[in-house]
Amino acid sequence: WNSWNTFGTDISESLICRMADILASEGYLEAGYDTLVVDDGWQSAARTADGHLSADPVKFPRGMKAVADYVHGRGLKFGIYSAAGVETCAGYPGSFGHEFTDARDFAAWGVDYLKYDLCHFPGSGNIQSAYLTMSMALKCSGRDIVYSGATCGEGDAKLWMRSVGAHLYRTTGDIQDSFASVKRHAVFSLDDLGLSAPGCFADPDMLVVGMRGKGYAADGGCTAEEYLTHFGIWCMYSVPLMIGADLRAIDADCKKILLNKNLIAIDQDEECRPPYFEKRSRYSNKEKLILLKILEGNRFAIGFFNLTDNDGALHAYFSDMGLPVYSGRGFRLKDLVTGEDVGVHRDFFSVRLNRHACKIYLATVE
Ligand code: GLA
Repeated sequence: WNSWNTFGTDISESLICRMADILASEGYLEAGYDTLVVDDGWQSAARTADGHLSADPVKFPRGMKAVADYVHGRGLKFGIYSAAGVETCAGYPGSFGHEFTDARDFAAWGVDYLKYDLCHFPGSGNIQSAYLTMSMALKCSGRDIVYSGATCGEGDAKLWMRSVGAHLYRTTGDIQDSFASVKRHAVFSLDDLGLSAPGCFADPDMLVVGMRGKGYAADGGCTAEEYLTHFGIWCMYSVPLMIGADLRAIDADCKKILLNKNLIAIDQDEECRPPYFEKRSRYSNKEKLILLKILEGNRFAIGFFNLTDNDGALHAYFSDMGLPVYSGRGFRLKDLVTGEDVGVHRDFFSVRLNRHACKIYLATVE
């Protein structure tokens, strides 16, 4: 869970502790949502006289270690935010030139995850070496800290994020709670997934599932069907699933999506392969998205996503997935949302989908 999508900088100790309670007690932690990240806005407006970052005394009167302790007490990992520039994106002090001090403080507070953003970066600086410096600072901090290289898809960062030791590389700008934004993020990230693998994963931004048009990243909201499509695409991409909604207000339909064990298992598949996207087929394009994901154990997931604004059919020709009709083989398909076994299909499979809807199947070859 990350505080930004719903709360922006309007965060506090009591709010964060409440979110930790809900993550731990309402099935989220059990489903795998094991990290709570406090995004931008936790800091005081200036560094202390001796050059340290400190928590805003009104929002977090007991400091960040107290918050980390509380979050750890709920069985969760604790994440925090900073940026590689002189200021963060919301204008708080950045870590440029203070990397080793900040990393040591984060470790002392019990931080397990750092989201490291890119704003207000000095023109004379070098972004890649700044990310490497923070990486070295974290490695020297004495604590294992997941390092999220959140450059908003800036330049060629995806090409070097893994090599500087980051565990996530952001592929996009900021997501908003509308289907148009979800679609933009999904389509934009498609070409950047090839570098996503164990050790360093693509990050097309936090989920908006369950926001229902409320909060900082509000943009009209989505229907439950649209949220399922959003969640299903992130799972097919095997990218980090970070809830951005107000956990106090997630409705039953959206909670069911976020806790869908079958889809989470696809996301967390051991091999973590990005999906195969058949670009040449006239039946699949970036609006009628058909994805094949190779899973551990000779299994596959096939996802059909109708991103167009019209209801319609999507056709998958299995030859486009490496299973031509002359192989004599077909796919047995099991719907990962309804659980329905839709039988063995050879050569092709078509599915009719409402606008913005999806179907995702577990496939085995027979
Ligand atoms: C950038 C990031 C967001 C969020 C804000 C905080 O816009 O992309 O995810 O962290 O900064 O200011």
